[in-house]
Amino acid sequence: MAHGTATSLSTTAALLALLVASAQAQLAGHGGPVRAIAISGDGNSLLSGSFDTAAIRWSLKTESAEQVLRFHSGAVNAVAFLKDGRMVTAGADAKVAIWTLGRQQPDQVFEGHTAPVVSLAISPDGARLASASWDHTVRVWSLDDGAQQVLEGHTQQVNGVAFTPDGRYLASVGYDRELRIWPLAGGTPNVIALESPLNAAAAAPDGEIVAGGADGKLHFLTTEGHESGEVQAGQRPIVALAVSPDGTSVAAAGIGGSVALIDRKARTIAQTLADSGSPVWAVAFLPDSATLLTGGADGKIRRWNARTGAVIGASQAQPSDPLAGYAGDHGAEVFRACVACHTLSGKDAQRAGPTLAGLYGRRIASLPGYRFSDALKGMNIIWTPETVSKLFELGPNTYTPGTKMPEQRIGSAEDRKALTDFLGRATSK
Ligand code: HEC
Repeated sequence: MAHGTATSLSTTAALLALLVASAQAQLAGHGGPVRAIAISGDGNSLLSGSFDTAAIRWSLKTESAEQVLRFHSGAVNAVAFLKDGRMVTAGADAKVAIWTLGRQQPDQVFEGHTAPVVSLAISPDGARLASASWDHTVRVWSLDDGAQQVLEGHTQQVNGVAFTPDGRYLASVGYDRELRIWPLAGGTPNVIALESPLNAAAAAPDGEIVAGGADGKLHFLTTEGHESGEVQAGQRPIVALAVSPDGTSVAAAGIGGSVALIDRKARTIAQTLADSGSPVWAVAFLPDSATLLTGGADGKIRRWNARTGAVIGASQAQPSDPLAGYAGDHGAEVFRACVACHTLSGKDAQRAGPTLAGLYGRRIASLPGYRFSDALKGMNIIWTPETVSKLFELGPNTYTPGTKMPEQRIGSAEDRKALTDFLGRATSK
């Protein structure tokens, strides 16, 4: 999940029981392109990071959003699960955050990078985290005490990192066309110059390193850095890649849309995913290696049969960024925190929360067809700019106790005013 084009609120632990388009077998909730996805070790949860600045933890069993992780001030470019189930998010704001399940704020924030962080990797023993950044460095963080080791040498943006399965080396790839294999015990890295800028890296269970280039090629190298093969995965730059847990296949997403499934042993394209509907920015396999998940420009996460390339469940088109028409509007920026769960128009597919179309003048929990929590139904609140402002000044738990809406506050009166003005304009059409 490396590469990139350039581009606080939080939640309660409790299952939010959010209803998310389960009939379509796809996870729709983000308000912008999905930039990164990761699957938990047990295959039950998925973590997605988006240009909308949020990360969402999903249950893959119920296909519902269980936690919205809001902390970063820019796009969430990379996500990972730790071995103990904690989560990691990294953003365009150069920060790396570590989260415990259900907590509203990160437990730890690793600071040091000075430009967007675009790729993360967890060491096989679960003790260390590696991050790749456009500041030209790779950092290796101790999850124990946060101590960081800075790996310098790339002369341009670093786009991808991967640990070798023996935990002895870290591979990094960059825009400078270099694959660097760093011995974690110390010492000089092995530097391999390839022929094109490199956007993504992964390691197979047997130690083979895979790098994806701007020339659409996958390069295979041994842990020692010897080139062992290549496959032309597509004509466009590769933006994301993943090796299946059983090591048999590599999924490579090209910019613009195509996703190739490569037979790693045969070095051939075994499948190309049926029309993904929208450009894919992130790929990840489930632990069974039979299912591939992709995250795309339309903000949705889809499941695919990794053997046949067929989509699992139907897909439904949706505009990519509902806020695209509001560039420069401060209120729309504040609303980015809401867009993962609320639409502005009743015509859009419902997200985890009720649509806010026609909000002002509406009585709380009165929208037909949405399953509000019982606690809200007895409340005597009419939504107006003043009551919505109160809701986020005090926080939903205080103003509307018993709500399913995750706890979140907007501290600045100016931001609240911009939000409620924006809602007036955007929900009355
Ligand atoms: C993680 C999802 C999530 C986020 C983020 C979120 N909400 Fe909600 N919101 C909900 C859910 C779920 C409900 C329904 C609550 C219930 O039934 O208990 C809700 C209810 C509401 C309601 C009451 C609607 C009604 O018809 O009574 C308003 C108003 C609202 N949200 C506004 C916002 C705004 C504004 C933001 C951003 C600042 C926001 N929400 C962020 C999930 C979310």
